[in-house]
Amino acid sequence: MSEASITMDAPFERSLLDTAPAPLVGTSVSRVDGPFKVTGQARYAAEHGSGDLAYGMLVRAPVGSGRIDRLDTAAAEAMPGVLAVITDARLIRNGGDFAGAAAPPHGSRDVVYFGQPIALVVADSFERARAAASAVRLSYERKPGVFDLAEVLDSAEPPTNDIFGLFLIHTEQGDVAGALKQAAVVVDEVWTTPSQSHAPMEPHATVAQWDGRRLTLHGSYQSPVTTRDQLATLLGLETAQVRVLAPFVGGGFGSKLGLMPEAAAAAIAAQRLGRPVKVALPRQHVFEMTGRRPATHQRLRLGADADGKLTTIAHETITDQLEGEMFFEPAGIATHLLYAAPNRLVDHKVARVNKLLGVSMRAPGEGVGQLSLECAMDELAEKLDLDPVELRLRNEPEVHPETGQAFSSRSLAECLRVGAERFGWTARNRAPGRCRDGEWLIGHGMAASARGNLFGPAKVRVRIDADGLAAVETEMTDIGTGTYTILSQIVADLLGVALDRVEVRLGDTDAPTSAGSGGSWGATTAGSAVYAACEKLRVMLAEAAGVTSGNAVFADGMIVAGEVRRPLSELVGNGMVVDGATAPGTSNAHFSQSSYGAHFCEMRVNAVTGEMRVARWNSVFAAGRILNTKTATSQAIGGIVFGIGGALTEELVHDVRTGKVVNRDLGEYHVPVHADIPDIDVLYLEERDRLANPLLAKGIGELGVCGSGAAVANAIYNATGVRVRDFPITLDKLF
Ligand code: MOS
Repeated sequence: MSEASITMDAPFERSLLDTAPAPLVGTSVSRVDGPFKVTGQARYAAEHGSGDLAYGMLVRAPVGSGRIDRLDTAAAEAMPGVLAVITDARLIRNGGDFAGAAAPPHGSRDVVYFGQPIALVVADSFERARAAASAVRLSYERKPGVFDLAEVLDSAEPPTNDIFGLFLIHTEQGDVAGALKQAAVVVDEVWTTPSQSHAPMEPHATVAQWDGRRLTLHGSYQSPVTTRDQLATLLGLETAQVRVLAPFVGGGFGSKLGLMPEAAAAAIAAQRLGRPVKVALPRQHVFEMTGRRPATHQRLRLGADADGKLTTIAHETITDQLEGEMFFEPAGIATHLLYAAPNRLVDHKVARVNKLLGVSMRAPGEGVGQLSLECAMDELAEKLDLDPVELRLRNEPEVHPETGQAFSSRSLAECLRVGAERFGWTARNRAPGRCRDGEWLIGHGMAASARGNLFGPAKVRVRIDADGLAAVETEMTDIGTGTYTILSQIVADLLGVALDRVEVRLGDTDAPTSAGSGGSWGATTAGSAVYAACEKLRVMLAEAAGVTSGNAVFADGMIVAGEVRRPLSELVGNGMVVDGATAPGTSNAHFSQSSYGAHFCEMRVNAVTGEMRVARWNSVFAAGRILNTKTATSQAIGGIVFGIGGALTEELVHDVRTGKVVNRDLGEYHVPVHADIPDIDVLYLEERDRLANPLLAKGIGELGVCGSGAAVANAIYNATGVRVRDFPITLDKLF
């Protein structure tokens, strides 16, 4: 077996992707897995299992803080078809992406949030399991609980742990207080954002099977290897004893990054019963027991001189989380780098509450942090009587404003200019509440967008078979993002084979380990490992053909160099296999790497009813090479819809008396639907990032969320003259 590895230690002066004679990368290729999905051949988590499959239903704590005294399972056990009622303490362990690093301290019967799983009923049908779950009798002691962040702001403390050194708990430069006193114009306001639910289309589900030595899970996971490792730790198994499969995943948005309750429950029951067990969470359980985006309380102070140069940026955030958990919402993360200012402060604190586990949710930090920062910039522009686009251009830093690092690439100014042009921004009336069409007030708003470009270690295996078919195997997933398609395109371009001559197999922990689908790093990370493998395969193929790879062109299933013209199938013998690997290097550490963008939108607000409608939208992004314009545009639109939802409708409501989640389904938790969203125009600028990776591409998955909600809020202000700083901006807050 051959191996090839790429780390990012020097600029990539050239990319092999630019040598393909008829490149697919960069074009609008439709999803290669699309036909499988629309014909129902793609099997999702809950569709697995057969024969003696048993069904598990979790029993939830009916109290937000307390202790279970007695769990009476006799009635449930006597019901028809019931196989077991499991009260294993490991069921209640919280999931989440960082749970493995800091196991929660809760005792076996302590309840720390309403809906926490405390038992599992297993029966021979889903309906029987559900009926028996409601027959489990509990008595409990109620303890005082905290169900509202606003009540405990004063108790907030610094997070116990920075997450991988990425989130930057506290940074401070210059003299913030002094500079604010000197500033010609100051904005000092508080913004709040509520808990949000990921609400992926496919609910969490796992089918687990134990053969006495090895556990196999079919489920819906963003990072199968994380689920495997956390589960092995929980059950005291070797990682080699657990295989996790997730070839098709119907969305995750962060809620499937780590071990979640359904996977642990299915595995425990499968071991206990010696037969396959499915635990498919009903939608209400997804809302109550998987994870949420933490609520935030953000104070932002901006100071500027009379010319609109920022002198001060101070962003102090408090977010809420269960006791003992290490994840926190890094709401100040983009504030470190978006704008220049000599006096700076970014601070994160955490207040402890009895609410569902806070976990990463699409653009953790940036998603809610840019709501406040980009709204504050809008308020500052107004006080300065300056156009908000111009304000941002005047404060564009040349290097990272805190670290002094060079930017690997940064086209924010270009995004702002091009976006303003496409939208027709100059025609906007800056004075609020002046533009009206009958009952409808019309407003225009904009915001900048930034999301860190992350990269993780990844491995893939690429083979060419004797018949010239290419195949990629990796543990990496496709969560609706387009991984199957993008990896196929990269192989097709680099090996010169047709798209339908490439087979990509994803989501299996028995395949080489990737960094999973998260943090916008999936496509670039897995794609770079594929690049490494293909680069090596080209050298091997050229050697077999007796030419040097540098002079060879790979196209139409052939290698061509001068007079030599050979089909790959003739050169590979019994097949060629390369394990490709990639890992972050010094370039990732030494350069500030982010993707950037700008949003422009028109809002219509009904002056009588307060109804708010998004009427028009333009976004411009720059994120290095765009690997597939169609899937990238879909990602952007999805992110923008997320941002619109965060601005206008999405709020996971905890009853402040009990901690119970009140809106536990998609009928009550309002995600925007088609009728809420106009045509969204998305443009990606031509950009190449030679420091990011050999693809010269940066992450895009979470970029659309960043700033889009602020553009909505700013447009609502422009329409109405009302600033609502308490998200979501529901109509009761408007007039
Ligand atoms: Mo994302 S919150 O890393 O799925």
